[in-house]
Amino acid sequence: MATGGRGGEFYEVDDVRRAYLRHRHDGLRSPNTVMEEPAFLDALGSVSGCRVLDLGCGDGSTANLILSGGATSYVGVDGSGGMVETARRTAGGDRVRFVHGDIEDVDVGAGEFDVVISRMAFHYIERLDVVVERVHRALSEGGRLVFSVVHPVITGHDTSGDGPRTSWMVDGYFDRGPRERSWFGSTVVWRHRTIEDYVRVVTRHGFRLDSLSECEPRAELLLGDADELARRRRVPLMLLVGATRS
Ligand SMILES: C[S@@+](CC[C@H](N)C(=O)[O-])C[C@H]1O[C@@H](n2cnc3c(N)ncnc32)[C@H](O)[C@@H]1O
Repeated sequence: MATGGRGGEFYEVDDVRRAYLRHRHDGLRSPNTVMEEPAFLDALGSVSGCRVLDLGCGDGSTANLILSGGATSYVGVDGSGGMVETARRTAGGDRVRFVHGDIEDVDVGAGEFDVVISRMAFHYIERLDVVVERVHRALSEGGRLVFSVVHPVITGHDTSGDGPRTSWMVDGYFDRGPRERSWFGSTVVWRHRTIEDYVRVVTRHGFRLDSLSECEPRAELLLGDADELARRRRVPLMLLVGATRS
């Protein structure tokens, strides 16, 4: 089933969401664990005493990470009702709140948050410039934005053919826009942008760029599994941007 609409819809199909979450939490086989999360934590730094907004929060696992880091509050927004239900079972307490809604519709008061994060969700967003402009307004002075996306080499590669990939062919790299992908037994639509686009969207909207990471796999996390390390070193899968409201 093609879910050409907003990104949350893709995760509404129970089997798709479950398959995604199995992969997401598949220990050292998960690129989120060995590539994205270490880069995300490095860029994020301390969230102690911060009010945190998470756009595309998923199943609530990031909420627990943020709360254990001493954040005073955490609001997670996700477009999939199934994800939000899961998140409410994963994380609770009076510092945390989950909202079922679309990232493109989030419009909170000026200066309500100190940190805005988004992990692997902005490549679903069509009007990213509008979202980043609103994030800028939502942040307190000196507030931070940290987000990760599917790497442009992956949103820009040709996915024809079945079975495990042995090579990647990037094509139409400078043609921005929607790209359909077969993923977890369904069809997803990702918005392809270049690395330069992701940098520009933050610098154009009043942020200073602090970090840009291509989430190189961490050998120390792979516990001597040389084959898995070699597999993960072939192509970048994620891109991460950290910026401060200036
Ligand atoms: C790849 S998952 C990542 C989830 C979580 N951030 C994590 O790292 O585990 C992408 C998430 O973004 C949400 N999402 C995608 N597009 C969205 C949109 N336009 N509005 C709200 N949520 C969206 C999906 O429902 C899904 O939960």
